[in-house]
Order: sequence, then structure tokens, then C-alpha cells
Amino acid sequence: MRALLLENLHPTAGKILTEAGFDVEEHSGALDEDELIAALEGVDLLGIRSKTEVTQRVLDARPDLTAIGAFCIGTNQIDLARAATLGVATFNAPYSNTRSVVELAIANIIAMARRLTERDKALHAGVWDKSADGSHEIRGRSLGIVGYGNIGSQLSVVAEALGMRVYFYDVDDRLALGNATRCSSLAELLEVAETVTLHVDGREANAGVFGAAEFAMMRPRSLFLNLSRGFVVDYDALRAALVSGHLAGAAVDVFPKEPKKRGDAFDSPLRNLPNVILTPHVGGSTEEAQEDIGRFVGGKLRDYVRRGATSLSVNMPTLMPERTPHTQRITHLHQNVPGVLAALNDVLGRHEINIGYQSLATRGDLGYAVTDTDSPIPDAALAALRDIDGTVRLRVIS
Ligand SMILES: NC(=O)c1ccc[n+]([C@@H]2O[C@H](COP(=O)([O-])OP(=O)(O)OC[C@H]3O[C@@H](n4cnc5c(N)ncnc54)[C@H](O)[C@@H]3O)[C@@H](O)[C@H]2O)c1
Repeated sequence: MRALLLENLHPTAGKILTEAGFDVEEHSGALDEDELIAALEGVDLLGIRSKTEVTQRVLDARPDLTAIGAFCIGTNQIDLARAATLGVATFNAPYSNTRSVVELAIANIIAMARRLTERDKALHAGVWDKSADGSHEIRGRSLGIVGYGNIGSQLSVVAEALGMRVYFYDVDDRLALGNATRCSSLAELLEVAETVTLHVDGREANAGVFGAAEFAMMRPRSLFLNLSRGFVVDYDALRAALVSGHLAGAAVDVFPKEPKKRGDAFDSPLRNLPNVILTPHVGGSTEEAQEDIGRFVGGKLRDYVRRGATSLSVNMPTLMPERTPHTQRITHLHQNVPGVLAALNDVLGRHEINIGYQSLATRGDLGYAVTDTDSPIPDAALAALRDIDGTVRLRVIS
């Protein structure tokens, strides 16, 4: 089988797939639609980052593609619905950079509490500004985490280890880790937190969720961080809160409109304010995160091809089929309509093939059955399985 890896993926990805027996071809850049269609001839697995667009046209031109690995967090660059309809499983790496974001948040909290960027700028300008005024330890101070998901909850643990008192607010009922205190509303959190950090997801309802009213509710001289999504915060309101002195500092990594590529010009109402740390959406950008993304997505692609495992796929029913001492494994992706599993078992029964293991999962319009048989399945039976009404894709994994 052949794998085409684009956009300079971490070498771990190629290594995993080579070790799994794939013939791996790697390219450093992204490809445009026509180039991609041409390059995908005879390719089973495609690995990309965010710059390669896998459009409906690409998928329709190469419907035999087995799976796509998005070696990043987002999957907007892939027409997921079309891929699902054609049976092209897609995987991404939703958790690999969690720790990196947490570490940047901690670094920012300490840097703001010690006014590090101001001290650094002054000394580079030749000014010896030695003073303890406005500098604080973070030990014993209260941290309010808004959004207690993968990142927020891990930040909670690390911040506590540094001696912070953690409060959190989440719209869902989340388990409080360590000694963290759950707040029943955002207002309750803003009343107690000396540092407020946002880690909410990108749902539409979060647009402008943090604005002038929320900044006004924050404690005087508190610190604010946003490493989640740019559109959730009103940055004009944040600027006003900083300029008035109500807030003592802010650290922002995400912006409503971000430049497309490295080196492009950037503007924001938050530029040139003291004790405001601006970073170009690098919260999750570390070499460790890149390596973990390579390991995670590379492993998902391998396990899908070799075992039929779809756990954490973004567009397939998810199944982690057991390892059984089977003779042959088939995976049958089908439309989620009545009678398909019965038809599949009927074909096997008619060919006197015993089923050793079977598992089924569904997701929206799709059903996915993994079946292990005690004897090899003859070609006539495979043809009959492919002919079952509603079949999207049949794969044989020996
Ligand atoms: N800066 C970066 O480089 C970087 C890197 C990775 C992730 N992110 C962003 O960080 C954010 C968090 O990522 P995650 O993996 O922890 O996501 P997640 O989905 O695991 O957690 C988000 C949490 O926020 C909660 N939530 C949503 N809206 C809320 C609201 N209005 N008030 C309170 N809670 C709310 C959800 O219930 C959920 O528990 C996402 O927006 C993600 O895109 C940024």
C-alpha cells in the first residue's frame, strides 16, 4: 500500500507507516487541487496539515483513497461529509498540543505577574529598572479557568502544582480535578479570580462571549489570558480595560483575524500596551506537539488499515475491534438502514463461513461492521457482500 505525506510532517509519521509496510512518499509543500488529484493516483493514505485542501472534486476523482490523516487539530480543509459518503476515513490529532498550550499559559501568567516583558524591554533599551513594585509570586493567587476541557483541566493540575488556587467554570458539568473549585456561573468565577484564562471551544454561541460587561466584573488589577479562539473576546473592550488600569495585564495568542502566513503584517487594538503579551497563535506550536501529532495520526492510520480501528475518526462510526485469532477480518461500511447486518450475515451463512467475532457501530447515516471469520472468504462471497444494498465500502484485512 502507498502513503503520500505532504507539508513536511514530523518524521515519526513516515517511520510508523514505513514500519507498518507502507511505501511512503513525502513532500515538503502543499499541493493544489489538480496537483493533488494527479499525485493521489494509486495512493491509499494521504497525510496533510492545514494547507492542503481535500475538496469534493479531489475526493470524487480519487474515490478509492482509504484514509486521510490531518496531522493537525482542525479538519476544515477536508470535505469530511463527502469523504464519509465515499468511505474515506479521516483522522486528526485533537489532543497532541494540549500540554504545549498549558505551558504557554503558565509562562504567560508568571511573565505578567513579574512584568517580565517590561523589564526585558527596558534592559534592552539600556535602562536598569530594578524594583519589586507590581511584581508578584503566583503562589497562593487565585486562577479562574473558563472552559474546563482538555486544556483547561490540565492547566488546573499544573497551576495547582505551582501553588495557585484554582476555580473553574464550564457550561458542562465537569469533574473538578485536585482541589479545584467549581463555580456555578461565570460571574461567580470573576468575583474570586485574580487571573482569568479562557479555554472555551469554538462553538458559534461563544462569539463575543467575553466583552465589556465581563471585563467590568473582573477584580481590579487582575490579569486576563485568551489562548482559545480570537472571536470569543471583544479586544476593543479588553484594550479599554487595560488602558483604564482596571486590568494589570493580558496575554493573547489568538485573534479574530489572523494573518495567513509567516511574515505577513499584523494589527490589533492590543498592540503597544504595557504588560500585554501578544503571541502569533503559537500556543500549541512546539516540536514536542508536532512529534506527538506525527505519532498519534500515524498510529491511527496504521490501525485503521491493519485492524479496521476507527476510534477518534472525525467522520466514521467509531469502533475499536478486539484482536481475535481470526482467519480473515472484513470491514463493511454501509448506509445506516435496516437489514444490512442481516444481509451481511446471510451471505456469510450461505457460504458456510462461521463468524468468530463481530462488532457494529453507527454514526449518523453510516454503519460500520467489523467481522472476523474462522475460514477464508471466497471471492464469490466477497462479491455478494459488495452487492448488498447500502454498501459503501468493503475492506478485507487478512
Ligand atoms: N492557542 C493555540 O495554539 C491552541 C491550541 C490548541 C487548542 N486551542 C483552542 O483552545 C480551546 C480549548 O481546547 P480544548 O482542547 O481544551 O477544547 P475542549 O473542547 O476539550 O474544551 C472546551 C471546554 O469549554 C467548555 N465551554 C464551551 N463554551 C463555554 C463557555 N461559554 N463557558 C464555559 N465553558 C465553555 C466546553 O464545555 C468544554 O469543556 C479551543 O478553542 C481550541 O481551539 C488553541
